[in-house]
Amino acid sequence: MSDYFDLIARRESCRNFDPNRPVEHEKLQRCAEAAWIAPSACNGQPWKYLIVTNAELNEKLRPLMMELGMNKFVKNCPAFAVVLEENTVLKVSLSQKFKDQDFAPIDVAFSASQFCYAATEQGLSTCIIGWHNEQKIRELFGLPKSTRVRLILAVGYAASDTLRKKQRKPIEDVIKFYE
Ligand SMILES: Cc1cc2nc3c(=O)[nH]c(=O)nc-3n(C[C@H](O)[C@H](O)[C@H](O)COP(=O)(O)O)c2cc1C
Repeated sequence: MSDYFDLIARRESCRNFDPNRPVEHEKLQRCAEAAWIAPSACNGQPWKYLIVTNAELNEKLRPLMMELGMNKFVKNCPAFAVVLEENTVLKVSLSQKFKDQDFAPIDVAFSASQFCYAATEQGLSTCIIGWHNEQKIRELFGLPKSTRVRLILAVGYAASDTLRKKQRKPIEDVIKFYE
C-alpha cells in the first residue's frame, strides 16, 4: 500500500502511453469499484462508466477526442473509461434548498478522481479528457440526449516512468487559513 500523499504526487496526466501494453481487466475492475463507491450529494450517484478495451470500438472512439488536432496521444492508449452523468432525483427538501447548485457534475468529478487514483495505485497512468465530441460519443454508444458525456479517462501504462514537476499557482494564492 502506498502512502496517500505519495499517491497524489505520482498521479499526473499521461500523454505518452505504451501502445504495446494492454490494461488487465482486474485492474480496470478495481478502478471501477473505486469510482463506484465515491461520495455524492444525497447519495445520488449520478455517474455511469463505459469501460472500453475493445480495439474496434476504440478505433471509433479515439477520433472523437482528437478533433482540431487535440489529444493526439490517445492513439497509443489501450483503454478508456467514458464517464457519463445521468439525471438523479435529489430529495425534494434538499433540491429546493440548493436549487442554485448543480451537484451532479461535482459528484461525477469526485468519482472520476477516485477512478484515477485507483489506477495510479495499481501502477497505471491516466489522462482526464474533457475535449471530446459529446454528441458523436452519444451516437456511438446509443445514449439518449439526457445523458451527459462529462469526461473520458484514458488509461494505460506510461511509456516512461519519469514524472514531471507539477505546475501550479503559488499555494498562498489559492489556500487561505483563518486561525
Ligand atoms: C476536467 C478536465 C479536463 C481535461 N481535459 C484534458 C484534455 O482534453 N486533454 C488533455 O491532454 N488533458 C486534459 N486534462 C488534464 C489537465 O490538463 C491536467 O490535469 C493539468 O494540466 C494538470 O496536470 P497534471 O494532471 O499532470 O497534474 C483535463 C483535466 C481535467 C480535470
